[in-house]
Amino acid sequence: MATFVPATERRTKSPHLPFGDRRDAPFYGMDILSVLQFRREDLDYIFGVAREMRSMVDRIGTFDLLKGKILANLFYEPSTRTSSSFLAAMERLGGSVIPINEVTYSSVAKGESLPDTVRTLQTYADVIVLRHPEVGSAKLAAQYTTKPIINAGDGTGEHPTQALLDLFTIQEELGRVDGLTVTMLGDLKYGRTVHSLSRLLSLFDVRINYVSPEILNMPPELLAELNRQGMAQRELTTLSPVLPETDVLYVTRVQKERFDDLGQYESVKNAYVITPETLEDAKEQMIIMHPFPRVGEISMEVDDDPRAAYFRQMESGLYVRMALLAMVLGKA
Ligand code: NCD
Repeated sequence: MATFVPATERRTKSPHLPFGDRRDAPFYGMDILSVLQFRREDLDYIFGVAREMRSMVDRIGTFDLLKGKILANLFYEPSTRTSSSFLAAMERLGGSVIPINEVTYSSVAKGESLPDTVRTLQTYADVIVLRHPEVGSAKLAAQYTTKPIINAGDGTGEHPTQALLDLFTIQEELGRVDGLTVTMLGDLKYGRTVHSLSRLLSLFDVRINYVSPEILNMPPELLAELNRQGMAQRELTTLSPVLPETDVLYVTRVQKERFDDLGQYESVKNAYVITPETLEDAKEQMIIMHPFPRVGEISMEVDDDPRAAYFRQMESGLYVRMALLAMVLGKA
């Protein structure tokens, strides 16, 4: 587990300071590996920059804040939103991208090792975004490069940039985070987005309900960690008892690719489906979120409901990732 070090006290990785970069900028040269790195003040700062990015994109679309900077977008697992939003974020900031998608991963066959790949890419790029199937891969990569590594999902571990954009969405949609009841539904065992988001929410005064089939419960170590943070948590197997009190319903996909036994996957894959009828018992002022892709957990008829926030959530991803890139490159 990463140890907590306040942003202001963290040492930057980059020994050389390219012209125009601000060494005093918070997060300059830093890796983004886990949400455990962030305090509430850090979140306020990131969200402030994300709002500026949103207004710049609205007003002028693309601008030159990161002109001349290069991002290596290294994805060993499939991705649509994360990889394309990082790519769009870099290009909207005037930078450019080396896209490396769906690298066939093999630790034993002829595949190059992760340390070698990142040491190669750091000679070409200024920042590396990495998605990889193994827990701890981003941390490992970070040990082998002086350039910032941004974790875009390490197996069933964490997905910190998703959690940041999720929290930003909650804040922007509902105007606050403190005092809310968040219900996470679906695959809480393998879903890295809920692992990161629950940790981030532990910085706030929130209650979390976890609704999942028993074989997909939240990892007990994570529940214990959150318990130590004083998080009010409850585990259930059905949604109906907690839906009426829910402010944020965070739905997730059953992570088929993480199952060794596909029979077990089949037995839980359709455990919950949100339809307009499900939502009859939900508050009028609440939101439904999903990191996507969805594979049947939310019916398309829900999309027209103003409470369906998942497409707005995706859009937030662009602004939050623009903010993070600008920050680690010393331009925000
Ligand atoms: C998620 C992921 O990759 O963890 N997707 C995403 O980044 N938006 C969720 C998922 O794959 O189910």
